[in-house]
Amino acid sequence: MKSLLFYLIIIYIGIFNTLYINKPLEQSMIEGKEIYDDFCVRCHLDNGMGEKGKNPPLANSDYLENIDKTIQSIKFGLSGPIWVNGEIYDSVMEYQGLDDEEIADVVNYILNSWGNKHEQIITEEKVSSIDESI
Ligand code: HEC
Repeated sequence: MKSLLFYLIIIYIGIFNTLYINKPLEQSMIEGKEIYDDFCVRCHLDNGMGEKGKNPPLANSDYLENIDKTIQSIKFGLSGPIWVNGEIYDSVMEYQGLDDEEIADVVNYILNSWGNKHEQIITEEKVSSIDESI
């Protein structure tokens, strides 16, 4: 009886873990798209192309190759000159007020949309490990 209870607890923790802690990529992207549509689309547009000379693209952006910097830009905002696909942008993106889980979701969305592909899922823990000084 005791061991049955033990197994039930293990199974429960396993299901909880899969559903709520390690959100699968698909689910994270669905939630990430909602965040994108609410917070990012007005500048980076539906097709992720941004606006030349003003808001840099996310589709095929070489900036996204540096995952830590990508997370940092969304977590703390970004300003000053940056290079994206050989073009310079020198503007300001404010911090959008998102929490770490929301940032993980929106990063999973942008890393896997418009032809972008990233093998590894970005977790909330990864986002929380990024600080301002990298
Ligand atoms: C008000 C317009 C605006 C909004 C809203 C906005 N951005 Fe940006 N974003 C910018 C600008 C401008 C830059 C470049 C800043 C600079 O020149 O330093 C940028 C840069 C970036 C970069 C790095 C450069 C690149 O293109 O790869 C990423 C990643 C990014 N934004 C993602 C997001 C995400 C995700 C959201 C929504 C949570 C968002 N942005 C919301 C304007 C915006």
